[in-house]
Amino acid sequence: MRSHYCGHLDESHIGQEVILYGWMHRRRDHGGVIFIDLRDREGISQVVYDPESRESFAAAERVRSEYVLRVKGLVRRRPEGTENPAMPTGAIEVLGRELEILNTAETPPFQLDSEDHEVSEENRLRYRYIDLRRPQMQQRIRTRARVSRIIRDFLDSAGFLDIETPMLTKATPEGARDYLVPSRTHNGSFFALPQSPQLFKQLLMMSGMDRYYQIVRCFRDEDLRADRQPEFTQLDIETAFIKEDEMMDIMENLIRTLFKQVLDVELPNPFPRMTYAEAMRRFASDKPDLRIPLELVDVADVMKDVEFKVFSGPANHPNGRVAALRLPKGGGLTRKEIDDYTAFVGIYGAKGLAYIKVNDLNAGREGLQSPILKFLPDTAINTIMQRTGAQDGDLVFFGADKSTIVNEAMGALRVKLGHDLNMLEGQWRPLWVVDFPMFEWDEKENRWGAIHHPFTAPREADINKLEDKPGECLSRAYDMVLNGTEIGGGSQRIYRAHVQEKVFRLLGIKDEEAQEKFGFLLEALKYGCPPHGGIAFGLDRLVMLMTGASSIREVMAFPKTQTAACLLTSAPSEVSEAQLRELGIRLRKPQAQSEKEKA
Ligand code: AMO
Ligand code: AMP
Repeated sequence: MRSHYCGHLDESHIGQEVILYGWMHRRRDHGGVIFIDLRDREGISQVVYDPESRESFAAAERVRSEYVLRVKGLVRRRPEGTENPAMPTGAIEVLGRELEILNTAETPPFQLDSEDHEVSEENRLRYRYIDLRRPQMQQRIRTRARVSRIIRDFLDSAGFLDIETPMLTKATPEGARDYLVPSRTHNGSFFALPQSPQLFKQLLMMSGMDRYYQIVRCFRDEDLRADRQPEFTQLDIETAFIKEDEMMDIMENLIRTLFKQVLDVELPNPFPRMTYAEAMRRFASDKPDLRIPLELVDVADVMKDVEFKVFSGPANHPNGRVAALRLPKGGGLTRKEIDDYTAFVGIYGAKGLAYIKVNDLNAGREGLQSPILKFLPDTAINTIMQRTGAQDGDLVFFGADKSTIVNEAMGALRVKLGHDLNMLEGQWRPLWVVDFPMFEWDEKENRWGAIHHPFTAPREADINKLEDKPGECLSRAYDMVLNGTEIGGGSQRIYRAHVQEKVFRLLGIKDEEAQEKFGFLLEALKYGCPPHGGIAFGLDRLVMLMTGASSIREVMAFPKTQTAACLLTSAPSEVSEAQLRELGIRLRKPQAQSEKEKA
């Protein structure tokens, strides 16, 4: 066994004999003396071999990158002038007396001291075990372990029980596709991997467990992005007899404790709260990044009668929005830059990006510059300038369309401008978004859909609006947002069977279907269900933000690619005919093949 970790040695060990185990990080041959940087989990120590100890010197000559070594030697102060203050162990070195090569290694596919971006992600994922040796990755994985431990300690002290829930289960609707697992013993039937433990944690409240938590894997087959993976980890929480304010209080405390202990950062107490309506109005997003000092203002009221159809159309449409976004000092943007931003909002379905450059406010119309100026009356122009608070040298952008499109496009533009122009203010800006609507109209399906999930309770005052005015019902949901990322979401739940049935019906779930899918829940609600509520945090997202990583893949030991594959193990992969037969499954021919056959 080792006597010390390489990274722990310092001047206090001078004169001690140590035994180290690790990997050969770097080797330098200095005419007769060989320096080996030996690396382990905790860091690097320099080991020196001189020709006097013949056997170990000969071994040191054979050592190559990533060989696995056992070193025995004496810690000594580095000769004056050779200290390395950049290294935590830079004041000392180990005079090697023994060197055992425990294993050789092929030349690694990339340098272990590379930065993330210096190696292709494909290579990093294919050789993840080597990538994880890089100090940066070790640091992230350790921070993650630390975060989990602090969470467990905090919740344990607050009386939460860690309870596991099934992985082989029935579908829960969190809005993604399910990963299915065929059953051998029930041919033709399938388990679904949980998108979240939502229904089980509610059942645990009905079981009297009172306060539950779990750090748990969830599975969602959805389009992947930097902050989405097909399997990811939630900190999942549920409590009984606690209202949303108390719940939010405990959860804020947890997050504040984490930031204090891990990063020595004091987050605000309490976190600010913002209604969904305000977040959409000011930031065109339900997860606003408050570090960006840009806000939208609505101008539809002054656009109703203008000549410019692009504006008057949405201004007169009940689902339309016409919004202006002032970019302070944006007048300096070039034509090309504006064209690029126009193309950017196009990704979100915007048909254009009108703008006004403000050269000289006092000069009225003459002091402004814009292709749309000629369509707008003075009153409209004046209102725009007043509401946006525009100053000389600014630029005002406009979005006009269905409000869903304007919000997506202008919300994304706001974030992009903030980053492109280095406008971020403050390092950590958490907030709660509350008062979400219960439902949104799904145009594709032509029916109402749940904004959170179908078990979210409506506000008491809105229960009697469920049938006639579902669009006006607000829910008892709350999302925690940090720097523009939704790190957690939860709600008070429906705990009365008749309200749950009503909501299912409204969502177009027929009574039979509700029985078939959620009969167990509807039944359980009838056997003494306490009022309850909870939340789930995206643990990966939280750790990503805390470590400053660019994607959640950087804080997962073995993540999948953007196409939901594992490059390390080559999963998913085909299975044998015999396995399929046992499961009672016959594969359809892959589409490409059957099309070739048709041709
Ligand atoms: P929700 O679906 O909002 O709520 O998920 C909770 C949190 O999980 C994270 N998250 C993800 N992280 C990585 N990859 C994904 N594909 C992914 N999807 C979600 C987000 C999100 O805020 N059962 C409810 C919670 C509740 O009501 O208690 C639920 O799962 O950070
Ligand atoms: P057009 O009349 O299409 O040449 O558009 C005039 C200006 O309005 C251009 O700057 C377009 O980028 C902009 N524009 C067009 N459609 C929209 C829209 N839906 N929202 C905001 N600006 C738009």
